[in-house]
Amino acid sequence: EKAGYKHFMAKEIAEQPVVIADALKHYTTAEGTLRLPEGVDFANVDRITMVACGTASYACHVAKYWFEQIAGLPAEIDVASEFRYREPPLSPQSWALFVSQSGETADTLAALRYASGKVARVVSVVNVPTSSIARESDLSLPILAGVEIGVASTKAFTCQLTVLALLALKAALDRGRIDAATLAGHLQSLRNLPGLMNHALSLSTPIAAIADDLAKAQDILFLGRGAMFPLALEGALKLKEISYIHAEGYASGELKHGPIALIDAAVPVIVMAPRDALFEKTVSNMQEVMARHGKVLLISDAQGVAEAGAGAWRTLTLPDMPPVFAPILYALPAQLLAYHTAIAKGTDVDQPRNLAKSVTVE
Ligand code: F6R
Repeated sequence: EKAGYKHFMAKEIAEQPVVIADALKHYTTAEGTLRLPEGVDFANVDRITMVACGTASYACHVAKYWFEQIAGLPAEIDVASEFRYREPPLSPQSWALFVSQSGETADTLAALRYASGKVARVVSVVNVPTSSIARESDLSLPILAGVEIGVASTKAFTCQLTVLALLALKAALDRGRIDAATLAGHLQSLRNLPGLMNHALSLSTPIAAIADDLAKAQDILFLGRGAMFPLALEGALKLKEISYIHAEGYASGELKHGPIALIDAAVPVIVMAPRDALFEKTVSNMQEVMARHGKVLLISDAQGVAEAGAGAWRTLTLPDMPPVFAPILYALPAQLLAYHTAIAKGTDVDQPRNLAKSVTVE
């Protein structure tokens, strides 16, 4: 049942304000404190290693910035297919964290089994609480996204990010990096997300108009800096898997180390950049693209668009959001761009060719 939507993906994108609110209600209190399971205590943890595949690995990649910046906790990330065969040494004081929507991804499960017994705690963040990955973890946190049917992961991604943000905040608290008042402030920003997401969803019509043009492109680049870099990777993955247009995500600062050679008037470059401390640097990368006649789509907040939107091919203005958690909000325009581009191309949005919802073989 698509509840009146044309595709499960559209329905699942639209559900995000509700499921994010549910997840926050589950893991936080109205008084502005965390309500995480008993064993979630980072006091003696020396490192966190996060492992996943695909979109879930990009959620880990965003969370790496949070664990390091908010909690001062060294964080490593890897895709499960590399981690499991690389056989990395793991500290017995560390945690290994596995993120999976299905909880059945073969490589992620094998990576979990590799880490088992080598670390202080094997933790998972899953959507399916009865899954193998959930059952084989010492501790499993459900993301409460509800059933996700569209092959392209959408609401599971933002729910993964939300739970990972709460874990990073708990780590910051346990390690004495933030006090209760700062925590309450961060939780309030997260609690504002559903409203801001509704605003982002209301941009569906202008996004569809942009997507009509993107559908004509052969290659599309996504750029982002800091925690927006993994969002660039996710935007590119979402677009390529359902529209079959070649897309790549890059850290903005890497542009001049190679990908700038691709830029010409036919290559749209999607820049995801809230007005944060690194904004000026991203703007200078954007100008390098525009100087080579690249078509820049700038996705930012009102101040960012006002300061840097001139000369861009198109702009999209999202509501203000503290930059630290902005990736959760900026996921929505990335999903909508992929969705509408696929619609414009007439591809099978919910069941893209060659892809399976749950990858239970390596
Ligand atoms: C992309 C997508 C895949 C999955 C990946 C991991 O939209 O859905 O990249 O994220 O196959 O799947 P799970 O999260 O079930 O382990």
